[in-house]
Amino acid sequence: MEKILFVCFVGLLIVAQGTTESILSEDISVLGELESLDIEEGGDIKPLDYTSWMSESDNKVLVNVDGFGAVGDGVSDDTQAFVDAWKQACSTPKSVFLVPIGLRYLVNATRFKGPCADKLIIQIDGTIVAPDEPNNWDPKKPRIWLDFSDLNGVIFQGGGVIDGCGSKWWAASCKRNKSNPCKGAPNALTIDSSSAVKVKGLTIRNSQQMHFVISRCESVRLTDIQISAPGDSPNTDGIHITGSTNVVLENCKIGTGDDCVSIVNGSSGIKMKTIYCGPGHGISIGSLGKDNSTGIVTKVVLDTAFLRETTNGLRIKTWQGGSGYVSSVRYQNVRMEDVSNPIIIDQFYCDSTVTCKNQTSAVEINGIMYRNITGTSKSAKAMKFACSNTVPCKHIVLNNINLEKKDGTVETYCNSAMGFGYGYVQPSAECLTSTDKDIIIEQTKDVENAKTSREDLIHTEL
Ligand SMILES: *[C@@H]1O[C@H](CO)[C@@H](O)[C@H](O)[C@H]1NC(C)=O
Ligand SMILES: *[C@@H]1O[C@H](CO)[C@@H](O)[C@H](O)[C@H]1NC(C)=O
Ligand SMILES: *[C@@H]1O[C@H](CO)[C@@H](O)[C@H](O)[C@H]1NC(C)=O
Ligand SMILES: *[C@@H]1O[C@H](CO)[C@@H](O)[C@H](O)[C@H]1NC(C)=O
Ligand SMILES: *[C@@H]1O[C@H](CO)[C@@H](O)[C@H](O)[C@H]1NC(C)=O
Ligand SMILES: *[C@@H]1O[C@H](CO)[C@@H](O)[C@H](O)[C@H]1NC(C)=O
Repeated sequence: MEKILFVCFVGLLIVAQGTTESILSEDISVLGELESLDIEEGGDIKPLDYTSWMSESDNKVLVNVDGFGAVGDGVSDDTQAFVDAWKQACSTPKSVFLVPIGLRYLVNATRFKGPCADKLIIQIDGTIVAPDEPNNWDPKKPRIWLDFSDLNGVIFQGGGVIDGCGSKWWAASCKRNKSNPCKGAPNALTIDSSSAVKVKGLTIRNSQQMHFVISRCESVRLTDIQISAPGDSPNTDGIHITGSTNVVLENCKIGTGDDCVSIVNGSSGIKMKTIYCGPGHGISIGSLGKDNSTGIVTKVVLDTAFLRETTNGLRIKTWQGGSGYVSSVRYQNVRMEDVSNPIIIDQFYCDSTVTCKNQTSAVEINGIMYRNITGTSKSAKAMKFACSNTVPCKHIVLNNINLEKKDGTVETYCNSAMGFGYGYVQPSAECLTSTDKDIIIEQTKDVENAKTSREDLIHTEL
């Protein structure tokens, strides 16, 4: 069956003429869009030299936290020293805010606010640790630890570590201990309302809640970021992108207790390249549409990822009752190993203690391509498209999929899911419905040997 659909697809490229043209051209144009979808890579971030700042000819001004009284013994409170050093660095052009190597700085919840003078570098070589006792956390800053905002054209870099020391927060979480109220916890590193930001080389671990939040930003590039927390630490998302455009993640290794990457409302132009995920809940768009809210995510590309022993692989999750849409998403070149739900669209997402009622409204899902996705599934339903009964998923495209189960067979689950597969698709994409399907199959009769022309017809570059 998938072979028929594949051939037919080629067929319609060739013979998209006559009476069926208007119906068929929609699938073709969506496919064309998905094929050519690309994300600008932060064009206005200046390529600065990462390593040579120390041996400066470019008269950088070094602002070392040690010079402001930081002790760096992991016990003394270095918050004030960081605040004072930030004031100095932020107001001085070409400065380097330095957290030196080899020491351990204890810092409370702090806001590092811009705007700052030009060409600020935040060089983190040492370790920054959070106070580990939730009961002493500043009640005025319940959701942040290190919060950077209103920056333009800055670079975060260095081989340092940001350690949330979150174990007591996890133990107090309502997900761990049902008798506790659900309160939320601080996110370790936040970059908010900023533009033209580069972050390179940092390690973030054991966050109280999410590790790295990019909110309300434009043009952000993260490279060589490592994130780690135990697989059972609650709500410890790796990289969370919200209300942001033009964000590139490259070569990031993430193992955590929640989503490795989560992309939520107001985000567009997100590119992820070479992502390692596991343990964790996978690479997610959503959740969206909670409490009848509007959620919009568009233009997301994931190219090259390795997921190992995660609960989900490539996931889109939306709540019943939401509105808005997810559109133009392409996932390609992904290898999975022992992933529970390798490919999943879940429009019945419900992460709450009370069961969620089905509603007529839903976040619409339109134009999602999966290409060259291989590996092993832990569950039989290797592909799951659980879409809203009233707002079906449209234009789901599967190409070169090979998902297997070590001890048994795999299948595809569909509810209200429209789209098609071509090339090798295992498990079969047959349960995807298409209004064009019958016409498509008619068209195949003339084009049985069209297969060889496939490469000419379909552009496969990212
Ligand atoms: C850091 O937090 C602790 C505990 O709340 C508090 O005693 C201390 O004064 C704070 N430090 C600064 C510099 O605000
Ligand atoms: C769960 O939380 C309750 C109330 O905060 C506490 O009394 C109890 O000791 C906790 N249980 C565990 C296993 O930590
Ligand atoms: C969704 O994102 C848009 C654009 O960033 C924003 O204006 C809107 O308030 C957000 N909605 C919710 C429910 O967060
Ligand atoms: C969402 O909308 C539904 C249907 O109108 C309503 O029953 C429900 O109470 C709403 N939920 C919230 C959290 O507003
Ligand atoms: C398919 O994806 C895998 C894993 O990322 C990659 O190694 C391989 O080169 C890809 N194949 C093609 C034909 O692009
Ligand atoms: C909602 O609808 C889906 C699809 O028809 C169904 O599988 C699910 O059981 C329903 N959930 C509830 C709570 O009624």
